[in-house]
Amino acid sequence: MTNSSKKDEEKTNKSKLNQTWGGRFNQPLDEFISTFAASVQFDKRLFKEDIAGSIAHAEMLAKVKLLTEGECGLIVNGLKSIKEDIKKGSFVWSTELEDVHMNIEAALVEKIGAVGKKLHTGRSRNDQVATDIKLWLRDAIDQLSDLIEELQMEVINMAENHVATLMPGFTHLQTAQPVTLGHHLLAWNEMLERDFGRFQDCRSRLNECPLGAAALAGTTFPIDRHLTASKLSFSKPTENSMDSVSDRDFAMEFCASSSILIIHLSRICEEIVLWNSSQFHFIQISDRFSTGSSIMPQKKNPDVAELIRGKTGRITGNLMTLLMLMKSQPLAYNKDNQEDKEPLFDTVDALGDCLRAMINLLPEIEVQTEALYSAAKESFSTATDLADYLVRKNIPFREAHEIVGRSVAYGLEHELELSCMPLAKLQEFSPQIQADVYEVLSVEGSVTSRAHVGGTAPESVKAAAGRARDRLKNR
Ligand code: ARG
Repeated sequence: MTNSSKKDEEKTNKSKLNQTWGGRFNQPLDEFISTFAASVQFDKRLFKEDIAGSIAHAEMLAKVKLLTEGECGLIVNGLKSIKEDIKKGSFVWSTELEDVHMNIEAALVEKIGAVGKKLHTGRSRNDQVATDIKLWLRDAIDQLSDLIEELQMEVINMAENHVATLMPGFTHLQTAQPVTLGHHLLAWNEMLERDFGRFQDCRSRLNECPLGAAALAGTTFPIDRHLTASKLSFSKPTENSMDSVSDRDFAMEFCASSSILIIHLSRICEEIVLWNSSQFHFIQISDRFSTGSSIMPQKKNPDVAELIRGKTGRITGNLMTLLMLMKSQPLAYNKDNQEDKEPLFDTVDALGDCLRAMINLLPEIEVQTEALYSAAKESFSTATDLADYLVRKNIPFREAHEIVGRSVAYGLEHELELSCMPLAKLQEFSPQIQADVYEVLSVEGSVTSRAHVGGTAPESVKAAAGRARDRLKNR
């Protein structure tokens, strides 16, 4: 190749070089790798946060005189009109420009000319992307928290309607002791209450602004990090520039809290599925929230609850993805981190859908109080109450346990519940047993006697529901 044709080829290559870092390069990026390395397909979802971060950064640059007010005005207006273009759908995203940050910056330069190139003073995509995700996630947490509260409201309403509805309480999925449905439902509410708290903890820990960390070591410019932090409603700037651009623990923490929440929802849904079965027949889900079978005409399936239960797989899977993504990553930013977005986005989407589905499902449930009541009375559910009764008659608990065990064995053999046994029969097991035992053996007596804080008695459940409501109100 002659010297001049070599120069010609270099020239054509140069014109194809990346606009952002082309200066140091002689060859354009391999075509496949250009697509492989790009994230714009999914991170364009951060456009609002990216623009908000850029506006805050530009205004800060103007405040510290790194931009003139005029330049800042041009940049801010340019960014705002890009936001409108994106919302309208007229913005053209380019994979060659790799990610949301470079797409928007390139569009800005195109819109307002060379002054747009000044925006990137004192920052890097590394602090930019960390800021964008935090802003996005903070908003997502707020929306999900509202949904958790809405769901809690539904649960508490339902509990209040059933403070005195009797049902069997289970351990090992075997009838254990009678409880009230309201009490069972308030157990769900407690799980959701802690889920809400975990999201708030995560939100407060992530609410520090990475802007100014630049690539990893900070910047030589006299930036005002407190200003950008407050413009973006962060509580303060992050402490350490290297940590700011590299850790994604806030995403892991969010996905861990989300995993616990979806596991709670899966437990609730599992109960709904069981209760809705013809074997239990504790509840009926409306036609609007059930589906049929294409082959078995008699079927009515609790698909909504099953689907929510099934989403546990992807949501906990996303947590694993993030944990493994971060494992062993040396400081500071590594391109690995680009992989943080899809699992995070998917978690927020799936969780939002599950919470909405759950909120809509609960009012579609019709409680079969009669069936719950009969089930509560079966399977010697008040055997523990009899043991406690004997203890009150001064019999040591272990001995009382043994006496009740023998009466249950007799009941099993003769298909007779304890409350149906004649007094004379019961007295064969212990002469201490008197006529007042029947109050203790009834399921009503069993639940009303558990009237302490956290107990299943209707009066305790009513009070607990009131406290749960107050907690929601006073948040
Ligand atoms: N798209 C990148 C990400 O999502 C932005 C940061 C890239 N920084 C870099 N130095 N390559 O993480």
